[in-house]
Amino acid sequence: MGLRDVTEADVTALHAVYGNPEATAYMPFAPRTLEQVATLVKDAIRAAAAEPRRLYALAVTDAETREVVGVARLHIEADHPHSAEIGLGLRPDQWGRGIGTDLIRLVQSFGFKELGLHRIWGARAPGNLPAQLAMLTAGMIEEGRVRHHVQTPSGWRDSIIHSIIEDDWTDR
Ligand SMILES: CC(C)(COP(=O)(O)OP(=O)(O)OC[C@H]1O[C@@H](n2cnc3c(N)ncnc32)[C@H](O)[C@@H]1OP(=O)(O)O)[C@@H](O)C(=O)NCCC(=O)NCCS
Repeated sequence: MGLRDVTEADVTALHAVYGNPEATAYMPFAPRTLEQVATLVKDAIRAAAAEPRRLYALAVTDAETREVVGVARLHIEADHPHSAEIGLGLRPDQWGRGIGTDLIRLVQSFGFKELGLHRIWGARAPGNLPAQLAMLTAGMIEEGRVRHHVQTPSGWRDSIIHSIIEDDWTDR
């Protein structure tokens, strides 16, 4: 599996995640249209050029075919630059084979080794069992519940926060 910056050529591949009702079921927005994904990609490319850079919107590629199978985001907090929030989504045909867990480990390695972060965290919907298990298996412990953390089309949603600290992290 590989990670690289998204490009405008990735819009259709990313729409297979962000436009898919199954993949967005636990995300705080309705499935995106192709045009909305194109705008997200444009914004990500613009954010990649910012100094200091705070947003890494990365295409997840298959190791052999180089096909884009998902997306990973790492967002460095402006007021806490040692800390970044991660988010990820894989195309549903990729689920359940350990790729999500491997991807979280890869993003951790990128964040700690390449970016010099100290803390990496993720927020999931309380009912998102695959995300819970993948983050726990990748060493991201549960910190607790943030009430009404995000607004979704169906109302306010709590988040369960997971994190890993550089001191706990072991590069596998
Ligand atoms: C979350 C996501 C990235 C996990 O990817 P994945 O490749 O399916 O995860 P893995 O195969 O590594 O599985 C992780 C764990 O969840 C379990 N799991 C996977 N799918 C499951 C399901 N539908 N029901 C129950 N358990 C499931 C696996 O058995 C594994 O458990 P283990 O660590 O105890 O062996 C993927 O489901 C996804 O893209 N979901 C949509 C977007 C999303 O919700 N992102 C997370 C936002 S916080």
